[in-house]
Amino acid sequence: MYDLKKHYLADEKIILNKISSVLKKGVLEMGEEVEKFEDNFKKYCNAKYCITVSSGSMALLLSLKSLGLKKNDEVITVANSDIPTSHAISLVGAKIKWVDVNEDTLNIDEEKIEQSINRKTKAILPVHLFGNPCNMSKILSIARKYKLKIIEDACLATGAEYKNKKIGSFGDLTVFSTNPGKILDGIGPGGIITTNKKNLYDKLKQLRDYGRKKRPGKWPVKSYLVGYNSKLSTINAAILNIRLKHLDDYVIRRNYNAGLYKHLLNSEKIKIQKILPNAKSAWRNFPIRVKNRNIIYNKIYSKNSNVKLNYLPPNHKDNCYINLRSVNNLKITEKTSSEIINLPCHPYMDESEITKLSKDLLKIIN
Ligand SMILES: Cc1ncc(COP(=O)(O)O)c(C=O)c1O
Repeated sequence: MYDLKKHYLADEKIILNKISSVLKKGVLEMGEEVEKFEDNFKKYCNAKYCITVSSGSMALLLSLKSLGLKKNDEVITVANSDIPTSHAISLVGAKIKWVDVNEDTLNIDEEKIEQSINRKTKAILPVHLFGNPCNMSKILSIARKYKLKIIEDACLATGAEYKNKKIGSFGDLTVFSTNPGKILDGIGPGGIITTNKKNLYDKLKQLRDYGRKKRPGKWPVKSYLVGYNSKLSTINAAILNIRLKHLDDYVIRRNYNAGLYKHLLNSEKIKIQKILPNAKSAWRNFPIRVKNRNIIYNKIYSKNSNVKLNYLPPNHKDNCYINLRSVNNLKITEKTSSEIINLPCHPYMDESEITKLSKDLLKIIN
């Protein structure tokens, strides 16, 4: 999905110099680079607070923890996300309420959210799938009506926009992944949470660091709640500081590639993900939907191994959830999951690669 080698080589010198300077400084946990990144990223998203953590999965888990979710509380989300979205809800002991998706956007169908809300519902966890922003206005108004919290899974949507604002300050909490290959990525696992709420920020800082309020300067240091060790590595933060400066360019380039695919794959046999008119996707990849997907996938994979099938099976059909009895009707989730092929859309692709892949696909499909 990404050319990590080209990505590294684009900034090789500056990355190597930075790694060397961090190592020479001898601060490899938290420190200036982490603080700088958190400050830079909150400004980028126009959010009041930013906390880095060890992965997008941990960002989801800690976010749910920070809201104080308990056993029997229910969280609404989608089943066509990567499995960690659902796992995070299970890991806090809450119950997952999967809602079906919209066939065109592949995001949560806002029209079906209200029918899944009951007394136990505490939060909505929309996923900006493949970088495509959800209809946040509708989701926010439902959350307001029923007094629910919103945690946005923006693990694939760093740099995406909704109503001319960066994703990162719509819900109570927004979660990003900086795992290698994501829109903004480091050289190992990493995650980010943004929020405008000081109480959530304070709690998250403790949750990621053994329940401590402060990094130990002078021992002893107290732990105020039962927490985790879930910190972003300092070297990773340093690299993210370098790459954050290019994030808008990455997203522009991805949008250019998506535009090219749309133009080249103009066929009634191919369905393209719809982006809301007031949104800008980060295009983590370019999902197309086709009939006879598995046959087409096998053929195109033999020509280009960067095409992928994410995320299969949908979460409710995965082995770990096999014993769940009551699952909503997820007809569109199941239908679209059986049709999607994800094409690479990263900034280091050149036009000839996109043209060849598109031509190969059309030959196979027609
Ligand atoms: C939608 C979504 N949510 C959460 C995650 C988890 O992020 P991480 O791999 O950083 O733990 C991913 C990872 O790809 C993802 O795609």
